[in-house]
Amino acid sequence: MDEAMHISKSVTEEEKQELSMKVNNESSQTADKIASQGEQAAAVESMPASTSPLRTKPFPSWPQWGEAEEEMLRKVLYAGQWGTLGDQAMSFASRFAAFQDCQYGIAVNNGTQALEIAMRGLGLGFGDEVILPAYTFIATASAVCACGITPVFADIDPATMLLDAADAERRITPRTRAIIAVHYAGRPCDMDAIMAVASAHGLKVIEDCAQAHGASFRGRKVGSFGDVGTFSFQETKNLPAGEGGMIVTNNKEVFAECWHYHTSGRALEGSAELGGLVLMGTNARMAEWEAGILHVQMDKLEGQMAKRTENARLLRELLKDEDWLELPAQDERITCHAYHLFTMTLKKDVLGMSREEWIRRVSAEGIPVSASYNPLYRDVMFSSANFRRMCAPVSGSAVTFASCALESGSMAASDDCKAVEEAAPWNVYLTQNVLLAEAEDMQDIVKVFRKVLGR
Ligand SMILES: Cc1ncc(COP(=O)(O)O)c(C=O)c1O
Repeated sequence: MDEAMHISKSVTEEEKQELSMKVNNESSQTADKIASQGEQAAAVESMPASTSPLRTKPFPSWPQWGEAEEEMLRKVLYAGQWGTLGDQAMSFASRFAAFQDCQYGIAVNNGTQALEIAMRGLGLGFGDEVILPAYTFIATASAVCACGITPVFADIDPATMLLDAADAERRITPRTRAIIAVHYAGRPCDMDAIMAVASAHGLKVIEDCAQAHGASFRGRKVGSFGDVGTFSFQETKNLPAGEGGMIVTNNKEVFAECWHYHTSGRALEGSAELGGLVLMGTNARMAEWEAGILHVQMDKLEGQMAKRTENARLLRELLKDEDWLELPAQDERITCHAYHLFTMTLKKDVLGMSREEWIRRVSAEGIPVSASYNPLYRDVMFSSANFRRMCAPVSGSAVTFASCALESGSMAASDDCKAVEEAAPWNVYLTQNVLLAEAEDMQDIVKVFRKVLGR
């Protein structure tokens, strides 16, 4: 048996849960440090730690594996082809694209590269602007920057924490070329509104579906609405392979362009020939181990999706009368929420404590909760020397990308994202593996939520 596998197998479920609680506690401690600089410091420090946690039973660990994964790894090993457009990667790309209602799929090495290649495949580059939500993982923005494109941050709808299409429309300039719709937490964006804005202004749409495997809007899977969709198979995702990503599209030209970029600029046909090079690409191909694992994990995905949906429905029902939190608004056009995260916004006026203190108390009672993103334009990345160095002048141009981004005002203007400024500091979530537990475990969550508020 592979040594790494042996080591992971020797970690018990309890140890894993303990580890994840430790990580969770550490992130809460970091958040606590931040809070302690503010006015809530006194309240935070005077709170006693829980001596008898209401819950000690671990939630299901993640990722999950068994004999089928082990067998698949052996199969890839003995097949003797471990990478470079192998059978597993090619067949998984077709299978996953079809699952997401798309004709074409390209298996790549991660979700960040998938985004970058998608933008290059659409012909976007230096001098262009792309609008994206100010509330997302850093990779959505860093992939934009890596292409030399200026990110323009738009506000979110606080009822959903997703891109506000009307606000995105207000930020369109003559340089705007595309909108990135991020299906944060696995909840599909309002694709009616986003596609309407894009078509009215002749913009491309990229769907960042890193958290939304299998999610659908009006019965149609995410990734199939825009010009191109991207996914991540990083370890925490609902479909994990450790690392990995996918580009999906229904547009043959976009597929061909992305194909060239992902495999060192080679042509789609005759790719083994050096003469088949058609552009300067990169190597972002998926390894066979990852694709093999994804095939096996995918066999389980729909069963897991049903379980998450059922538990999320129950949790929403159990929490519906709590006056100290707000659940994302229901939208009947959402035919499948992937529930990568179960998000909640705490009501600061009712809660009576800081978010960090709430997280600390809930975690201490055995429920793993976490804080979500900060407004992305505030990230230190954008003011770092490294950012300016990474975005160096493009040859032949006197204008640097960094100067475009920072001095054209497009990033500074992002400061007026009022909804994200107000909602982000109070957003929290449970992760998808918690929703794979049993109905009585959902009851525990609610009991803990009440206990920490003294109810
Ligand atoms: C919204 C979003 N976009 C992009 C990515 C990047 O994916 P990866 O980690 O596979 O590079 C992630 C990963 O967490 C994500 O959550």
